[in-house]
Amino acid sequence: MVGFGFHELFKKYPLYHKLGNVFYRQGFTRPMISFLDGYFKDKYGLVGVEIGVQRGFHTLNIFSVLGDRVEKMYLIDPWAEYTELGISHDWSGCLSVAKRVLRVFNGRCVFIKGYSQDMEVVDKVRDGSVDFVYIDGNHDYKTTKADILNFFPKVRVGGIFGGHDMSIGAPGVIQAVQEFVGESGLRLYGIASDWWVIKE
Ligand SMILES: C[S@@+](CC[C@H](N)C(=O)[O-])C[C@H]1O[C@@H](n2cnc3c(N)ncnc32)[C@H](O)[C@@H]1O
Repeated sequence: MVGFGFHELFKKYPLYHKLGNVFYRQGFTRPMISFLDGYFKDKYGLVGVEIGVQRGFHTLNIFSVLGDRVEKMYLIDPWAEYTELGISHDWSGCLSVAKRVLRVFNGRCVFIKGYSQDMEVVDKVRDGSVDFVYIDGNHDYKTTKADILNFFPKVRVGGIFGGHDMSIGAPGVIQAVQEFVGESGLRLYGIASDWWVIKE
């Protein structure tokens, strides 16, 4: 475990202990987050965006890995019913769960309830102001393409831009990412189903 005394937190707050156990049992940090850990080794004041938050477990992992280096996370999710790749989901009850899961970090979280492709949401994050964006919202082609076009400008030069599910289960993500990389000429990094680029 990299970061700051997370075990102390788990001892102090039983809920975190319980969730932490689940989290540790799941036992992984996604490759892009491990990359951020090394890439931003000595950098504090990091600002990040996560598109697709659900119950906040992955955000919790970001905080646990990057620790006090993270100053602010913009967390974007409609927390609503929606259909993705022909499957209906209902995450309408998950915002309150995410706030509980992230209770210790709520002061560093900006919860944005809305669809990432809506300009009202996009405009809440200033261009060139963030160090990393992690896209894990709606995985269809149209939304992923919109997420890439709308949120790449949010990243400062030298920042990291990427996401999850570049995998055969989400062909729209593969297509949108391939088009982005082809057009931008940036080098694509990928491990398992995470993908990312470094903004030049
Ligand atoms: C597979 S979950 C990923 C959650 C989190 N990143 C994780 O790994 O636990 C996908 C989330 O994306 C959200 N989502 C779906 N469409 C979205 C959109 N257009 N904008 C933002 N979030 C969206 C869903 O509500 C859901 O919570």
